[in-house]
This record gives sequence, C-alpha cells and structure tokens, in this order.
Amino acid sequence: MPIAMSGDISQTAAVELHDIVRKFGGRTVLEGITLRVERGELFGLLGPSGSGKTTLIKLITGIDKADGGTVRLLGEPMPKLAMLHRFGYMAQSDALYGELTAKENLLFFASLYGLSGSRRLARIEAAMAVVGLQDHLNKQVAAYSGGMKRRLSLAIALLHEPELLVLDEPTVGIDPVLRQSIWKELLALREKGTTILLTTHVMDEADKCDRIALIREGRLTAVDSPEALKAKSGTTNIEDAFIALGGGGRS
Ligand SMILES: Nc1ncnc2c1ncn2[C@@H]1O[C@H](COP(=O)(O)OP(=O)(O)O)[C@@H](O)[C@H]1O
Ligand SMILES: [Mg+2]
Repeated sequence: MPIAMSGDISQTAAVELHDIVRKFGGRTVLEGITLRVERGELFGLLGPSGSGKTTLIKLITGIDKADGGTVRLLGEPMPKLAMLHRFGYMAQSDALYGELTAKENLLFFASLYGLSGSRRLARIEAAMAVVGLQDHLNKQVAAYSGGMKRRLSLAIALLHEPELLVLDEPTVGIDPVLRQSIWKELLALREKGTTILLTTHVMDEADKCDRIALIREGRLTAVDSPEALKAKSGTTNIEDAFIALGGGGRS
C-alpha cells in the first residue's frame, strides 16, 4: 500500500495529471496523459502543430474539462475558479479588448486578480517593462501589431506575480531580440522560484527547459531533461531526439 502524503504542502506538485483523456466528437485528441511538474521547474511541452498542446493547457488551467482522468494544480483539483489568482495564463490566441488601451486591459485583469492601490500601478509598469511595451501603455490595443499583442498577453500573465505561469506558445510572432529578452526574464523568474509550464514547437526553446515532455498525436512519448533525452536517443540536438524517441515528423 502506498503511504498517503498528508498536510505537507511542499509535497504537492505544481501540476499533476493522471491518465487524462480528451475527446472531440468521436475523436480522441489526448490519451493516457500522466505527468508531474514539480514546483520551481521550467517545464516545456514540445510537439508539432495539432499534437494536443493547447488542449492539454486548457485542461490544466481549468478552461476545459477532461473526459477522463484528473488534473491537480498546486494541489487543488481542477477546474476551480478560485485558482485564477494563483497562476498566470497566456493563451495561444490573445484574449484582449481591442477597443481599450493596453493600460485599460491591464487594469481589467488587475481587478480580476485582486490587485489594488499602489501595487496595482507598480505591477502594471513592471510587467510592461519586462515585455518592452512601457512606451505604449496608452495606445489602443487595436493599433498594436501581432507581436505587441503577444507581449501584452505575457505582461498580463505576469501581472500578479503568480507562483505558477502557464504559457501557450509565448514567443510566437515575436522578433529574435525580444524573444531573447523574454527568455532572460523567464529564466530570472525561475531563479526566483516561479514554476513555468510552457508549450513550444521551437527546439532551441525546449533546450532551455529543466525538463521537457514530448507530445505526439495526443500521447506523451518521453519526459526528461533535454540532456537525458539526447543521451537516451544517442543524438546531439533536441530535434533529432524528438524524432528518435517517437516524435516523428517536423513541426
Ligand atoms: N474544440 C475543438 N473541437 C474539435 N477538435 C478540436 C478542438 N480543439 C482542438 N481540437 C483538435 O485537437 C487536436 C489538438 O489540437 P491542439 O491542442 O490545438 O494542438 P496544438 O496546440 O498542439 O497545436 C487537433 O487535431 C485539433 O483540431
Ligand atoms: Mg496550440
């Protein structure tokens, strides 16, 4: 008999998935996903387009519900509305109000997260500085470029300094210079103890993660550190490891 852990919060994982199944119509899109992301990890979910990354992220954040299996976030069974305060989420498609300014969007999310007073403004300014948008606070979001919208979405995810960040393709459409500065910030947040779970189809981003899960057609094909995955597959880069370990084609 396994001994149940009780009471000790340090024992709960950041994310705990057990035997997740998700179907759309008659089609199984995720099957048998069991995964544990530890607190403080920078964890990457790597897979080609259509492999099920976004579907899994939506189950983790409680936006969607699994047809089978269980999701726990910071020890709490999901979905659970009260968890909104405890993690930052950046969706793959930006959920922004185009007719409002960036600042008005940020104020909206700040109130959703329960930020107020002087901390609210300080956090808005700090989050916008991270993504290099501090000079565009009062611009209407409809006038933002695609890359600027991505950056604003990331600023919103960082706004309340959550202990867990869930980022779905955070750097898509962002130029290389800014991509590098965003990665610098993600690594700095990890140093401070923030858990980061992100999806990517970019191999060099996967290489920066502590551990990665390879996903292919709704199933996890491998979970390990980039180094271990390369060693296991006898390859020298993640792209080759991905293919060797059952990842199949290119993204
Ligand atoms: N709401 C939905 N209804 C039907 N099929 C869906 C829905 N959402 C996702 N899918 C399908 O599930 C599969 C995985 O999609 P997705 O999770 O978006 O992949 P990824 O994020 O890895 O590109 C795709 O085949 C997609 O068409
Ligand atoms: Mg996706």
